[in-house]
Amino acid sequence: MTNITFIAAGMMLCAATALSAQSLSQPKDEARIDELMSRMTLTEKIGQMNQLNGMGLSKDMRGSVRSGGVGTILNELDTDTINELQRIAVEESRLGIPLIFARDVIHGFKTIFPIPLGQAASWDQSLVEQGAQIAAREASSTGIRWTFAPMIDISRDPRWGRIAESLGEDTHLASVLGAAMVRGFQGEDMSAPDRMAACAKHFAGYAASESGRDYNTTWIPRTQLRETYLPPFKAAADAGAASFMCSFNDINGIPSSGNRWLNVDLLRGEWGYDGVLVSDWGSIEQMIPHGYSADLAHAARQAADAGVDIDMMSHAYDRHLEKLVDSGKIDIAQIDAAVRRVLRMKMRLGLFENPYVRKTADAFYRTDALAAARRAAAESAVLLKNNGVLPLAKGVKKVAVVGPLADSGRDQVGTWCFDAEPEHSVTPLKALRDEALEIIHAPGLAYSRDKSSESIAAAVKAARRADVILCFVGEEAILSGEARSRADIALPGAQTELIRQLRATGKPLVLVVMAGRPLTIGAEVAMSDATIFSFHAGTMAGPGLADVITGRVSPSGHLPVTFPRMVGQVPIYYNHKNTGRPAADITLIDDIPVDAMQTSLGFTSYHLDAGDGPLFPFGYGMSYSTFEYGPVTVSTGPNGTVTATCTVTNSGRCTASDVAQLYIRDRVASLVRPIRELRGFRKFTLDAGQSADVEFKLTPDDLGFWRADETFGPEHGEFDLWIAPDSNSGVPVTFNY
Ligand code: NOJ
Repeated sequence: MTNITFIAAGMMLCAATALSAQSLSQPKDEARIDELMSRMTLTEKIGQMNQLNGMGLSKDMRGSVRSGGVGTILNELDTDTINELQRIAVEESRLGIPLIFARDVIHGFKTIFPIPLGQAASWDQSLVEQGAQIAAREASSTGIRWTFAPMIDISRDPRWGRIAESLGEDTHLASVLGAAMVRGFQGEDMSAPDRMAACAKHFAGYAASESGRDYNTTWIPRTQLRETYLPPFKAAADAGAASFMCSFNDINGIPSSGNRWLNVDLLRGEWGYDGVLVSDWGSIEQMIPHGYSADLAHAARQAADAGVDIDMMSHAYDRHLEKLVDSGKIDIAQIDAAVRRVLRMKMRLGLFENPYVRKTADAFYRTDALAAARRAAAESAVLLKNNGVLPLAKGVKKVAVVGPLADSGRDQVGTWCFDAEPEHSVTPLKALRDEALEIIHAPGLAYSRDKSSESIAAAVKAARRADVILCFVGEEAILSGEARSRADIALPGAQTELIRQLRATGKPLVLVVMAGRPLTIGAEVAMSDATIFSFHAGTMAGPGLADVITGRVSPSGHLPVTFPRMVGQVPIYYNHKNTGRPAADITLIDDIPVDAMQTSLGFTSYHLDAGDGPLFPFGYGMSYSTFEYGPVTVSTGPNGTVTATCTVTNSGRCTASDVAQLYIRDRVASLVRPIRELRGFRKFTLDAGQSADVEFKLTPDDLGFWRADETFGPEHGEFDLWIAPDSNSGVPVTFNY
């Protein structure tokens, strides 16, 4: 038995929120900015703070660029137009300041990777970084040098459509993967022509929207904001993220675009962040319907006071800032600070030296991009159940490929990929046809919401002729993403009926669920012999899933978010508090005797109909092998460091990967602590029979938390610690800190 040691450091992310971010300024750039700004008129300065949506080479756009009335443009895609607008900016505007062209390049530009929630299921930083790097390479080849990603809103509500864009429910995981995305987009040097500026969004607390309804209000105590929602942003700032974006929501009554505490006191003051803060689309103007601003001039003043550098499409700054400065309502120093940050970003992107883009013939769908997207699709797949039907046995010859998602190139790329070309998607049907299998295809339903039962019979007929049924169900891409919240997160349409009829054939049934969010699929999983949750896995979803189904790749995805049994359990997340009466003696609704006395049942914390706990916990995922986690040993070292080790063994029959997850629990503290908190993870691969020691090193800050007085630090006492393959398993060791 070989022994290998994997060492993973805890990230100190919560603590890091207490320290200053690295400065993005370079002395040589600052001198140049000083010189430039000394020549700028107020109108030209405000122009840098104005972002417009692309309008091609319209007269208005040319005029705005020529007069210096716009600093950045989003959604302009045509490279010739980009170069021409840039030429006008550089050659015809008075000061020759180049433009930045921006776009939402969220999980790929042409080669689409899994939706971010799917990428998070890979728990693989290098893969996530590579995905962002490829997205940057493809997008920048057209002239887009600023993406509005990563989206690092901690998302605990699967009803919220934008959970698809997020990195899931856990602060530590999202911090690590969000920083990896920033590195992928920007590289070491953002001025390289194949890199782009990243934008950490949405600052902040957007995913806490009440009832998961998009844009809804949030109520987040400061300690929770600091502990749960802010650390991924601090990690992005530390990774050098060039920009941040305001969120649409109000927090405790104050919309983010007008939130001085958040953007000025905390982001600029406490963290010392000197990148750009851009509003969201129209979010300055939307402070009027929020009921925070009386009119657009008022909104402009509030946003400028709250340190928002760029107005994206509210026309608040271009219409009102000048008057506000002239009348002394806005200090010119605030404008100067904002303009400095915008110019700094342009310099970091190297646009003053290289304003134009040179067209590249073969920038899209390169072999390495498709291979990485395929690997990402395979690594994002989470095996939720397997009674042995997967991987397909050698003897399996005839396979029925059914379900509305089996051959939907558009849906498999998911939400937020404006530039995807579905004709480039390799669907599961297409990929499986390339295997040595006889494929009988009958979708059963035309699309996920299809309620007609006419075609189900054909799918059942196909299933009867097959050795195994592969049934691809889920959600169409349009059902998740911005403003695509659902109150019911069951499989839409007649998909459950399709599964029921397929089950009745008695043939082995494999479900592959392709969706933008967790779904309440307990009944469907129960009817299946195996279930893979693949999210929307991108351009190469088909080959990636075929790799898993055939066993070329053992699944290694682990859930980045808790799956509820019923939607009424939401919000449900692994790192909840224990309550004073944790669930025990559960009696479910159907087991309550008629006329039972109120006192005949227990009094603990659970739902009568859903019981306690999720359908699948955070961190969960199976493989084709099995892993044994040995006892955990903990030792304390100098300066309060803690080292935790455990031996993991691949006790199954094939090479496979797993994710060792380190959780802690502070047993007694001045504020009640969650029952578990992820503080480190390590993805590893072992051959059958091989063992490895997994070692985590934690600092005192890894044991710390934000206290009621908004100070951060650990408190002495007893801690539990687990190294386990998910948030619901393992045996804790207890140690004293
Ligand atoms: C609104 C979305 O909330 C944001 O994420 C996106 O970047 C902007 N629109 C620009 O498209």
